[in-house]
Order: sequence, then structure tokens, then C-alpha cells
Amino acid sequence: MKYKITVDKVEKSKVDQLDFNNIPLGTTFTDHMFICDYDNGEWVDARVVPMGLIPTHPAAMALHYGQAIFEGMKAYKDTDGTPMLFRPEQNAKRLNESATRMGMPELPEEIFVEGLKKLISIDHNWIPPTEGSALYLRPFMYADEAFIGMRAATHYKFIIMASPAQALYSKRIKLWAEKQYIRAAHGGTGEAKAAGNYAAAVLPTELAKAKGYDQVLWLDAAEHKYIQEVGTMNIFFKINGEFITPNLDGSVLHGITRASVIDMLRSMNFKVTERKITIDEIKEASENGSLEEAFGTGTAVGIAYIQEIGLEDETIHVSDESPVGLEVNDTLNAIKTGQLKDKFGWMTKVD
Ligand code: COI
Repeated sequence: MKYKITVDKVEKSKVDQLDFNNIPLGTTFTDHMFICDYDNGEWVDARVVPMGLIPTHPAAMALHYGQAIFEGMKAYKDTDGTPMLFRPEQNAKRLNESATRMGMPELPEEIFVEGLKKLISIDHNWIPPTEGSALYLRPFMYADEAFIGMRAATHYKFIIMASPAQALYSKRIKLWAEKQYIRAAHGGTGEAKAAGNYAAAVLPTELAKAKGYDQVLWLDAAEHKYIQEVGTMNIFFKINGEFITPNLDGSVLHGITRASVIDMLRSMNFKVTERKITIDEIKEASENGSLEEAFGTGTAVGIAYIQEIGLEDETIHVSDESPVGLEVNDTLNAIKTGQLKDKFGWMTKVD
């Protein structure tokens, strides 16, 4: 490739200290990370180095003005043990869309994909062999120029770290439909995978958890009635045999699992409609028995089945079973682990 990647390996891997049967998301990191700097208008010094702290100036602009974006993706192993990535070019594309919205430089797709491949080829022993687990990858970019003042930074870092993880939820989840706080407004940064979007979600999420819910169901900023997405996922409802998911109106994250699930549902001959949908429509469908199931989709969660939604002082019962969600989840997992033919062409092998 055009960008040479230098490698500095640890003397001894820590992988033998890992209990693959107990790996909560984001608590353990592999031996190495990939780093690349943006300096003088170009990406330079692509390197794999031992995982460790990164010296940061207190005036690093990301810390003050929030130019920070990230991606979430996972690596799996094929049946013959070859590491595989799920649709990495889609994450590269989305990172650049986020970068554009946040006034940050684009990263060549080649650096993104080759950096991932290099890191995974070195840390492949960290890909969990346990079913339902995977190596979570966190590519991210942030402004590390030391400067006080409001403008686009001129120096950035792009880093990829990796963290073995098991499935996030093993149970059906409960959502809290949020009417007071909002996640994204028209013209804002909602569809960017920007750190600030998650920062704005922290307090409402903690409040929802204190009420016994797992995540927040975000409603639109203007009227608090149109469903946007869930804390870390997009959302699908099955009503009268048809799947409905909120359309990408600028305030909703372009989920790669979302797009894949739409393709898969259509290949299963389901009607899938991307449109505005209100929380009242869900309430009515629940009451008249036409709400058949609902699930969230995301990289970290995979498919999370939804039990109920809290709305002010009421509870909307969604469903106790998610037969289609389960089938989609099983099929997706089988494709990701090479047990089923990848007829969609989603998997990229890491040689
Ligand atoms: C992911 O699903 O990969 C995400 O980025 C959500 C994250 C906040 C856990």
C-alpha cells in the first residue's frame, strides 16, 4: 500500500491471561494498537505499537471543543480460523462522513482497512473462539493539536484499538421513551458517530437506568413524538407482518447492522419500510395486538430483543418473543463466523 505501516511488537502477549468465557465489552484490550497522525495536511507515520497511554497536551482541542469521532466494528474467525471483518469499507465510509460533519479531515479508506488488517493479523489470537463473542474494534479520530480557540484543528490522531467482547445483552431489554431530553435535532450532528452525541446521552441514560430501563429510546427534538433510535442501536418494529424502522433523516445514525438487517429481512421476503414512526403508533399497535416484535441493531449489541417501552407513567408491552429477530441474529452470526455462505458479500478476510 501507499502508506507503509511500521510494527513494534510487545515482547510477550498477555492473551493467555484472558478468560474467554468472561469478557464484558470494553474491559480488556489486546496487546497492540494502530496509530496514524494527521500533520501538515497529510496522514503520516502509520504504525502498530504496544497498547498503552498516549501523551496528551491539556490543550488538546478534542478535550475542549469535542472534535472526536469513532466507529464500532467486530472481527470474527472463519471456520478454518482465518480472521474476518464485517463490512469494513462501510465503517471507513461512515468515519469519513462523521469527519466531514465535524470539520475533521477524511482518512483514506486504505489506511483504515490496512490498519485494521495489520492490527488483527498481529492480535488474531485475541479473537474469542466462544460463540456469540468477537473482537470488538474501536477505530477513532480526535483533534490532538494543543490550541485554545475555536476553529478546526490542524493535527489529529487516528487510532484503532481492539477489545475482545461477548454479546452485550443476554436478556430481553426495556427502553425508556425520553420526552424531556433529546439526542439530536434537525441540522445537528445526530447522524455523525461523534463523541458529543454520546456525552449528551449520559445523563438521560443514567436516569433511565435508575428507573429500571436498559437504554433510552430517543424521540425527535421538535415534537417529542417521532422515534429516532435507541442509546447504542437503531430500532425495528414488526407491525402486521411489516418491518418499520425510522428513516435516516439526518438525526439517525447510519447503522451498518441496520442496513444489513434491512437487506436480510428483504431477502426473507419481509416488507421493510423506512419511514417516520411515532411512539403513539407503537402504543396503539401494542394495544390492538398488531405489534408483533421489536429489536435494536448495533455492532456492540448485535440484535437486542425489546420487551417493553416505558412512556411517561405507562408501559407499552412490545412482545415476549422475537422469532424473526432471533432468525436474523442467528443468520447474521452464522455468516460472520463462516458457518453460512456469505451470499451478501459482507465478509472481508484478513490474510
Ligand atoms: C457500537 O455498537 O459499536 C457502538 O458504537 C455503541 C457503543 C457506544 C458501545
